Amino acid sequence: MKYLLGVDLGTSGTKTVLFDEKGTVIASKTIEYPLYQAKNGWAEQEPLDWWNAAKDTIKYVIEESGVDNADIAGLGISGQMHGLVMLDKDGNVLRRSIIWCDQRTAKECEEITEKVGAKRLIEITANPALTGFTASKILWVRNNQPEIYEKCAHILLPKDYVRYMLTGDFATEVSDASGMQLLDIPNRCWSKEVCDKLDIDMAMLPKVYESPEITGVISEEAAALTGLKAGTIVVGGAGDNAAAAVGTGVVEEGKAFTTIGSSGVVFAHTDDIRIDPKGRVHTFCCAVPGAWHVMGVTQGAGLSLKWFRDNFCRDEMSTAMGMGVDPYYLMDKEAENSPIGSNKLLYLPYLMGERTPHLDPDCRGVFFGLSAIHTKYDMLRAVMEGVTFSQRDSVEVLREMGVETKEMLACGGGGSSKLWRQMLADTYNCPVKTVVSKEGPALGVAILAAVGAGIYPSVAEACRQVIKTNPAQAPIEENVPEYSKYYKVYRNLYPALKGIYKDLAAL
Ligand code: XUL
Repeated sequence: MKYLLGVDLGTSGTKTVLFDEKGTVIASKTIEYPLYQAKNGWAEQEPLDWWNAAKDTIKYVIEESGVDNADIAGLGISGQMHGLVMLDKDGNVLRRSIIWCDQRTAKECEEITEKVGAKRLIEITANPALTGFTASKILWVRNNQPEIYEKCAHILLPKDYVRYMLTGDFATEVSDASGMQLLDIPNRCWSKEVCDKLDIDMAMLPKVYESPEITGVISEEAAALTGLKAGTIVVGGAGDNAAAAVGTGVVEEGKAFTTIGSSGVVFAHTDDIRIDPKGRVHTFCCAVPGAWHVMGVTQGAGLSLKWFRDNFCRDEMSTAMGMGVDPYYLMDKEAENSPIGSNKLLYLPYLMGERTPHLDPDCRGVFFGLSAIHTKYDMLRAVMEGVTFSQRDSVEVLREMGVETKEMLACGGGGSSKLWRQMLADTYNCPVKTVVSKEGPALGVAILAAVGAGIYPSVAEACRQVIKTNPAQAPIEENVPEYSKYYKVYRNLYPALKGIYKDLAAL
């Protein structure tokens, strides 16, 4: 039996899972790390925290499992997308990484649009200039910290920094590179035109591979630190959403998933490239060579509930600890006490600005309709419903683009809540399934490693053999029009507030 390692570098922590070649979990370990928010809308992390978490979780799962490291056929890495890692010529980290949810780069986005041209930018990078994406972060450092930019010799994405520490290679792959706004998405290679127009030296960028391709092998030094065998292959891996797609079997036309992790994503696989001319959803290369995906993003999905938990659910957290259950399990039970519509309370989940469909770094969260009758439980349910409505916004854009989804899977922490899945099914008016494995992105990149190691002939075939689904949760007929009524009000809130958000941001 061969084994595979999937490393998932998330925003709250890194999780490493050792699987056998059939996708069974043999050992798993997560290590958390901090998020630094020096200013409203800023978000940074320490690349060395990612490396330490990856190295220590790999070491832990190998030791814990007792598996002979010679039987580990390969390793794949999945990662939070868009983060900017800058290294000097000797490979030292130059500054904390400005990560995906950071919103400081509105000015740089204008600069990008002006230099490349709005239409041309969408033609090449399949997206309008976005504050979350890496290119605007590069320009921000150049504009604001020129002394750091001057020393920068290598630009990497978060997971590709861990790859560098494991193998010594400067490499990335198409799915994560798609979120840098420097990749020619139709042609799956760096865009010389965009780099030239932005005056970014292409020599700083890593080599781009397809996701299941081998990008390098574990170095002697990394082997000594992790317990891996030197020479073990490392494949491209994927950005977290593209990896989750593989880990849930969303690798064919007609299949889609909704993730509720820190961010929320509605993701649909497409064999042909499709671009929203208004740029409301992203088109990225997916982890299946030669295919793409279209996805809408809610910036503050699970992040909204976590924020609520951390600030208002201290009691639930200590009760849950006493009971040995997850606080979110208790919070779900509490939210069930409030009816659909949360007693006429709506929540806009824009804690970190919003991408789909508004593309607005300045909007912020709102509870709308708050009354003296409301309890914490209504607020809790409103948070879950608001995130769900925001994800329906993404589904609506996909429907408008003719991307029909015959099968919707739910994943991420929020996807494991039965209540939240029912909200999705009722709000989308379509059945929602889960896959048996809970390991989404980690399993996805382990599958890519299995393909790279030659255990399976293709990503689709590997998924057919490894991914098993649970029965679907169907929409509850009478709930569908109820949620629709509240969704209609929800949709009217952002346009009404749009200008006022700017006033607040300008203070
Ligand atoms: C995708 C995105 C997030 C991050 C963090 O565009 O920004 O999904 O990858 O999870």
